[in-house]
Amino acid sequence: MQSDQVRNIILVGFMASGKSSVSRALFRRCGWPRIDADDEIVSRAGKPIADIFRDSGEDAFRELERSVVSDICGERGRIIAAGGGSFIDDENRQTMLDGGTVFYLSASPETIHRRVTRGNPNAPARPLLGAGNSLERIKELLTQRRPAYSQAHHAVETDGLTPDQVAEAILKICGPNLAQQ
Ligand code: S3P
Repeated sequence: MQSDQVRNIILVGFMASGKSSVSRALFRRCGWPRIDADDEIVSRAGKPIADIFRDSGEDAFRELERSVVSDICGERGRIIAAGGGSFIDDENRQTMLDGGTVFYLSASPETIHRRVTRGNPNAPARPLLGAGNSLERIKELLTQRRPAYSQAHHAVETDGLTPDQVAEAILKICGPNLAQQ
């Protein structure tokens, strides 16, 4: 395999930046199987993410996340939608950078807030955003996380784009390096 070939397409970015829906749009276009890291965590833990945070705390969640990231990045020819915090962890970040081509899906705090609440101030709170999924908390976390996200191989701005348009942009960047696996 040539070194510039894409081994896996790995999507990182803040919650609600569109990783899962873009992974589905990519699947429709290139046919590579998709893996959602959060789904894998839920299946291994046997309970929803909010319950893992509530019952065992964030450290236990991150531990499980590291083992899932390490396993799925060992695959080849996969579209991987990673959890929003996974790329912040040094070990995970290196595993992902080594395991494929990493795309940071960026979105403004306002876009993220709109997608998380879907216009409903009583939408279920995300574990790390707290009651009301506050815009201030989103801004604060994004500021903390940007330096890590900026280490992705590529960044794609998603504000105003549909998942299909983001997928097109990613495939254009991959170009002929998206060889059949
Ligand atoms: C998290 C994002 C979530 C999930 C968990 C922690 C984060 O994934 O992994 O709640 O730290 O940003 P999504 O980005 O898929 O919402």
